[in-house]
Amino acid sequence: MPGKLHIGVLASGGGTNLESIIDNCKCGKIAGEVAVVISDVQCGALERARKAGIPEHWLNRHDKVRFPNREALDTAIRERLDQHDVQLVCLAGYLRIKTHELVDSYLGRMINIHPALLPSFGGEGMWGHHVHQAVLDYGCKVSGCTVHFVSLETDGGPIILQRPVPVEEGDTPETLAARILPHEHELYSEAIQLFAEGRLKIEGRRVRILPRAC
Ligand code: GRF
Repeated sequence: MPGKLHIGVLASGGGTNLESIIDNCKCGKIAGEVAVVISDVQCGALERARKAGIPEHWLNRHDKVRFPNREALDTAIRERLDQHDVQLVCLAGYLRIKTHELVDSYLGRMINIHPALLPSFGGEGMWGHHVHQAVLDYGCKVSGCTVHFVSLETDGGPIILQRPVPVEEGDTPETLAARILPHEHELYSEAIQLFAEGRLKIEGRRVRILPRAC
């Protein structure tokens, strides 16, 4: 992919994954730049984008006049992404369920990070501390993180990269989340760079990682 990859980030949370993507673009670990950050709520991620001088848009999902349904919101998001010539959409703690409107337009060009080893502990309701609580309740010895392509099924798209992280005796959802988060930051940037290099090939449920071009 010639030139810098134009990345659009959708986020609804604190934005540490966004920040690490911005940093890794700046230091050259990702051959790209964050062109726009969009959120459906006022959140830390928008604040971080402002501080970094990156265009940010708050599309208030509670504004039922502008966005009477999910499709209307996703259409507005797609329009903003298109305006900024986004080539890859990264969901970084974006909680809203996605519609055809958004997913179809960016099929194979939209990825997500999940703080567990999918397909376990994913899907509807599995976000934030709920994920880590479920991992602990099940008695898992290992958790981790997953980067995957986005499909209409929540957390169900083809897996790009995964990394295991140990669960330790006495862990709480907070300590486990804190241990996994730095790994998320590394793994997400690694996956974005593979995309930037054109090295991800989706074959059904599988994602092949192609060798680096000579
Ligand atoms: C991360 O744990 C990510 O895996 C999940 O939401 C969280 C977002 O954290 N999808 P942050 O807002 O990037 O700090």
